[in-house]
Amino acid sequence: MNNFAFYNPTKIVFGRGTVTELGGLVEPYGKRVLLVYGGGSIKRNGLYDQVLRQLKGIGAEVYELPGVEPNPRLTSVHRGIELCREHDVQFILGVGGGSVIDAAKAIAAGVPYEGDVWDFYARKARVEKALPLGAVLTLAATGTEMNGNTVITNWEINQKRGMGSIHVYPKFSILDPELTFTVPADQTANGIVDMMSHVFEQYFSLTTDTPLQERLCESILKTVIENGELAIREPDNYAARANLMLCGTYALNGGMISVGVQQDWASHEIEHAISAVYDIAHGAGLSIVFPNWMKYVYRSRIDRFVQYAVRVWDIDPAGKSDEEIALAGIQATRDYFTRIGAPATLGEAGIGREKLDVMAEDAVRFGPLGSFRKLEKDDVKAILEMAL
Ligand code: NZQ
Ligand code: ZN
Repeated sequence: MNNFAFYNPTKIVFGRGTVTELGGLVEPYGKRVLLVYGGGSIKRNGLYDQVLRQLKGIGAEVYELPGVEPNPRLTSVHRGIELCREHDVQFILGVGGGSVIDAAKAIAAGVPYEGDVWDFYARKARVEKALPLGAVLTLAATGTEMNGNTVITNWEINQKRGMGSIHVYPKFSILDPELTFTVPADQTANGIVDMMSHVFEQYFSLTTDTPLQERLCESILKTVIENGELAIREPDNYAARANLMLCGTYALNGGMISVGVQQDWASHEIEHAISAVYDIAHGAGLSIVFPNWMKYVYRSRIDRFVQYAVRVWDIDPAGKSDEEIALAGIQATRDYFTRIGAPATLGEAGIGREKLDVMAEDAVRFGPLGSFRKLEKDDVKAILEMAL
């Protein structure tokens, strides 16, 4: 196990009806609030009215940034920064999925910064301070509700980049599983793939002597696998939605399962390079990339893939070689993603070979990817070819 420090300042308020606590949670940060939301799901399901009631209840002046896109764009972030400066906003509240909350984080970091907020994503500057922000999460997937990461797309230059900072952890996040009942099946599936992928990025590691982290990863994966299919079959099943939501938060929160292990993140970088050109949903991209990444790299450490197959997918090892067991685990992953309706090939997402080179080049812009096996441009291209 490697040395580590783990600090997570986000307060999680979890459960049915917890939106009623919103006013009290916002109040200490000031009265001028920017409400950030997406394309309208929160208006259709009544959450918008509930949130406004809470904010009015504390006498807040509310400014709004609606229309944040899935794969949130820099242009929306710029609009939010302008609104905050114009109205001297004190607190930013993101109400929605990962895209909305990531945009809220970007705005929070951008307001006190003199340069362009994109500098943080282009690795030209580091966040030194940010406005405080909070979240009401409506989609179980990214973990952004309890981490310091934000991913923004600069559509003008076809780049989708992430950055992380202690300054943009939400002060609080409200997680009411009932708010996810209206998430459609395809987005539920994307969320399932995303949270499983976050675990993979931390589980497929060369670090040794980390039995607790490994078993935590395996528990999250098994819980997602069981509850994911149930949530798709029964969208109003509270237990299934609650378990998924908790898994999403545990899968990527700056420590829980990543402490002391070297992480990978190559598949995420490859997915971001695909979304930057084709604007596909993050989870859909991961469903296409991850099983192919697994096939490409499993020989780097076959014992971990054997453990994965046996412990997570209950593959019976009797009479099988390590190679056969590892490949059976990878196939089980592919089959599960397909069973929940997530795509298997680039072709299914309408993507051909035309821009494979551009995407591979973009993925390695800051150097080789990953640590489980280091990937150069040609490796990335080979994985994309496998995914065609
Ligand atoms: O925009 P609205 O109308 O709200 O609709 C959204 C959107 O169309 C809809 N939705 C959300 N909650 C809903 C709902 N529809 C009905 N009922 C609800 N309760 O779902 C659609 C997708 O929303 P989005 O926020 O884009 O999904 P997700 O939460 O999967 O976020 C994806 C973004 O997060 C980034 C991804 O790259 C992508 O940009 N990521 C962020 C991470 C982080 N900050 O830690 C890590 C991830 O690896 C990821 O890269
Ligand atoms: Zn992800």
